[in-house]
Amino acid sequence: MVQIAPSILSADFSRLGEELKGIEEGGADLVHCDVMDGHFVPNLTIGPVVLEGVKRSTSLPLDIHLMVENNPFFVELFAPLKPRYISFHWEEEKHPHRLVQRIKELGIGAGIAINPATPVSFLKEILPELEFVLIMSVNPGFGGQKFITSGVQKVRELREMASQLNPALKIEVDGGVNRETAPLLRRAGADILVAGSFIFKSSNYREAISTLRGEG
Ligand code: DX5
Ligand code: ZN
Repeated sequence: MVQIAPSILSADFSRLGEELKGIEEGGADLVHCDVMDGHFVPNLTIGPVVLEGVKRSTSLPLDIHLMVENNPFFVELFAPLKPRYISFHWEEEKHPHRLVQRIKELGIGAGIAINPATPVSFLKEILPELEFVLIMSVNPGFGGQKFITSGVQKVRELREMASQLNPALKIEVDGGVNRETAPLLRRAGADILVAGSFIFKSSNYREAISTLRGEG
C-alpha cells in the first residue's frame, strides 16, 4: 500500500508538536521535512534546531528532502538525527554517486530528487544504488503549488526503468498531491506520496491521509 508523508512545510509552526501528534494519530507513515537554504531554491525553511525538536516530538520516521547547495555538508549535519531517508537534488550535485554511498554508509535510505524539467532517464546509471527516487511534481520551493501533470508519466517511466535495474526501488512524489492527483499517481506506481497543504489545510488529518491512500 502507498505510504503517506505529510510535509510539515504547511503545518502551523507555532504548534508544531500538536501538528506532529495530529498526523501521527491520523495514520501518517513518515514526516517529510523540507530543508531549503535560500540558494538552491528561493525560500529558507528549517534547520537542525527545528528538526531536533521534530525528532523529539514524534515517533514517525523522518524523510529529509534537501533543497540546498552543498549537499554533503547537510547530510553530515542531519545524520545524527537518524532519519529514515535523505534525498538530495540531482541538479545540484556534482558527485551524486559518492554522496549516495556516504548516505548509505551512515545507515540512511538514499534517494535522489529530480525537478520537473529533469528526465528520469538521467538516473539510469545510479538507479541500482538508490533506495528511492523523489519525483517533484511542482518546482521546489513552496507548498500549495499546482500539480505539473507530466509527473504522472514520469512515475510510469521510472517504474518501467526500475523493473529492469532496481525492482525494489521506491518512487516518491512531492508537490500538488491531493484527492484528484493521488489516484493517478497510485495507479502509475508511486510508493510514497508527500502532501503538505492537502493534509495540513484540512480539518481532519485522518480523513485526508486515508483519502490520499485511496481508502476514503
Ligand atoms: C516543495 C516541497 C514540498 C511541499 C509540498 O518544494 O518539496 O514538500 O511542501 O507541498 P504541497 O503538498 O502543498 O504541494
Ligand atoms: Zn519536499
